[in-house]
Amino acid sequence: MSKKIALRKKGHLNISLRENVQGGISSGFEDVLLIHQALPETNRSDIDLSTKMFGRSLDAPLVLESMTGGVPEAMKLNRLLAECAEKYGLAIGVGSQRAAIERPIFAKTYSVVRDVAPNTLVFANLGAPQFASGYGIEEASVAVDMIKADALVIHANPLQESIQIEGETSFKGALPKIEEVARALRVPVIIKETGSGMSREVASQIEKVGAKGIDVAGAGGTSWAAVEYFRALQGGHRIQQQLGKIFRNWGIPTCASLVEVSRSTCLTVISSGGLRSGLDVAKSIALGAAAGGFALPVLKAAKRGSRYLNELIEILIEELRTTMFLVGARNIDDLRNVPLVLTGNTAYWLNERGYSTRDFANRRIPA
Ligand SMILES: Cc1cc2nc3c(=O)[nH]c(=O)nc-3n(C[C@H](O)[C@H](O)[C@H](O)COP(=O)(O)O)c2cc1C
Repeated sequence: MSKKIALRKKGHLNISLRENVQGGISSGFEDVLLIHQALPETNRSDIDLSTKMFGRSLDAPLVLESMTGGVPEAMKLNRLLAECAEKYGLAIGVGSQRAAIERPIFAKTYSVVRDVAPNTLVFANLGAPQFASGYGIEEASVAVDMIKADALVIHANPLQESIQIEGETSFKGALPKIEEVARALRVPVIIKETGSGMSREVASQIEKVGAKGIDVAGAGGTSWAAVEYFRALQGGHRIQQQLGKIFRNWGIPTCASLVEVSRSTCLTVISSGGLRSGLDVAKSIALGAAAGGFALPVLKAAKRGSRYLNELIEILIEELRTTMFLVGARNIDDLRNVPLVLTGNTAYWLNERGYSTRDFANRRIPA
């Protein structure tokens, strides 16, 4: 069973690296217009990108998102990603640890992350369907201890499970189980989508059961319907191919999801799903996120080697710093409160859902 999971993970990696798995809708960042301030009351070199999340200090509000583990290729990638997270003081997640829960021999493909990143924020990862079908505090603790994680991410991926040939679509009972785990686990629990976004309805449920964070993983970035479409194509599974095609663009675009979640809860919110620049990170923070996460772009860079990965991170940091300078934000707290104009589909979505886009436009520039 767990060998099959590891092989599936390898297939996901290969498809994500070779095929076009980007969703066909936008995450909405082009609808978020930050307001240029021609006389920023700060020096570019004084801008402070540091922040705190889940008890750890980060040098920049960036997350290398949960992706991989379980196969030798994954161990190599996890090592590279973790070296980078440690070097630049970023948060990092591992991919689902189910393979190692079921076959502990795979544990080292995940624990390499903490071995090379002793000082940074590390997220463990398991799936909601596993909790619906039997996992509990024991498995959650094993996953956390395996990598000495600071928090446990539980991913919710009903779209992927619906399209995947081996998909596990029993989600009934996941929420009460998450509550048990969130109340008993010694580290905070974060609930994360994988590319279809979080609504305010689900965000409120998540807050009620005691989770401490949400990673919106909205639509507009990597599409799991697309990934599973390519797997179905390889396997000749016609129905899954058709489902993958139809649902490629399904979900709540990242920017709309960010506002829904951060306006309806007091949770720590991570933005992911289609972030492709430091400017997107800045926009995410201005919309309510604590940090911005990247999966596919860092995977592609890591595959080319550490030089490319480090270069990507340095570019993201400089893009973020430049944006902060241009909107007059001296630090991340300032950036959370800068005024912005919402346009296009994102404004339409938010207005229809009852949010006032004027609230964002009328914010005062931080003094
Ligand atoms: C190859 C690959 C594997 C992934 N595996 C996981 C996983 O095991 N657990 C999880 O929570 N998310 C997983 N994700 C989802 C990402 O963490 C992220 O939420 C999503 O890809 C959106 O970010 P992006 O548009 O920057 O890729 C994976 C993404 C990719 C590309």
